[in-house]
Amino acid sequence: MARKLAVIGAGLMGSGIAQVSAQAGWDVVLRDVTDAALRRGKDGIEASFAKFVAKGRLDSAVAEQALARITTTTDMDAAADADIVVEAVFEKVEIKQEIFRTLDGLVKDDAVLASNTSAIPITKIAAATRRPERVVGAHFFSPVPMMQLCELVRGYKTSDETLASARAFAEDIGKTCIVVNRDVAGFVTTRLISALVVEAAKLHESGVASAEDIDIACKLGFGHAMGPLATADLTGVDILLHATENIYTESQDEKFAPPESMRRMVDAGDIGRKSGQGFYKH
Ligand SMILES: NC(=O)c1ccc[n+]([C@@H]2O[C@H](COP(=O)([O-])OP(=O)(O)OC[C@H]3O[C@@H](n4cnc5c(N)ncnc54)[C@H](O)[C@@H]3O)[C@@H](O)[C@H]2O)c1
Repeated sequence: MARKLAVIGAGLMGSGIAQVSAQAGWDVVLRDVTDAALRRGKDGIEASFAKFVAKGRLDSAVAEQALARITTTTDMDAAADADIVVEAVFEKVEIKQEIFRTLDGLVKDDAVLASNTSAIPITKIAAATRRPERVVGAHFFSPVPMMQLCELVRGYKTSDETLASARAFAEDIGKTCIVVNRDVAGFVTTRLISALVVEAAKLHESGVASAEDIDIACKLGFGHAMGPLATADLTGVDILLHATENIYTESQDEKFAPPESMRRMVDAGDIGRKSGQGFYKH
């Protein structure tokens, strides 16, 4: 299997993807726009490897070899000989399209171009290239070294071969994939959590049950690791509201219509853990 990966964006997700790929034996080039961003990314990877080594979960020699497989650069041309490129820059469609346009003029004909977008339609990103069949969504979860899931998303024109190559890559670096066969807003994961959070917020808003009891129901009744309202506080009520509104706008499906109380919480700044107050006090 091909072994050279280019990761565009050395933030939280890009550095995590670079880390697990290097550990799995891939040669990784990590590209960002500034040396400072690259330094932060590389420091984060080193710190994460150090933690795994300290806990006895990784051999220090293996960590060192993995680190040596990661090169950093501000030069996009370094992606030219990559077998697969994973883009993980800011969640802005214009920036992603610009990057895919540039990559299209640069990479090998058979390279796979993947985006780690959480919510932008893959089809929109792929349309910036002359090879939309080679573009696919590869939605990893944070923190990448800990989270097992990779949600693969088929754009309107993604080929079977591209999907298979993306799956082979994700599995090779230790992930388990699910396939989203149609490029719907929110893919599968965000649709599921949005529907659950919306219903939980409605039950809470109408006084049917307390936030604690709704979360306990999901944990003890369904074996969820965390209840939906605690999840909303952790992710950010604002982020989930925005994701849910997006899905509602596209699907016009009433089950994604966010309750008024959720909007007012966000208006008031009660967005969860990062503000100290959400469905819970933190
Ligand atoms: N944070 C999460 O939990 C999470 C989970 C799944 C998916 N995502 C998605 O992953 C992507 C990245 O998110 P993140 O949390 O890592 O963001 P981040 O802000 O931590 O990192 C983004 C990085 O992209 C860099 N960047 C911006 N423009 C660039 C360009 N033209 N070329 C190269 N690098 C560029 C920035 O300098 C920054 O280092 C987003 O699309 C996001 O929606 C995030």
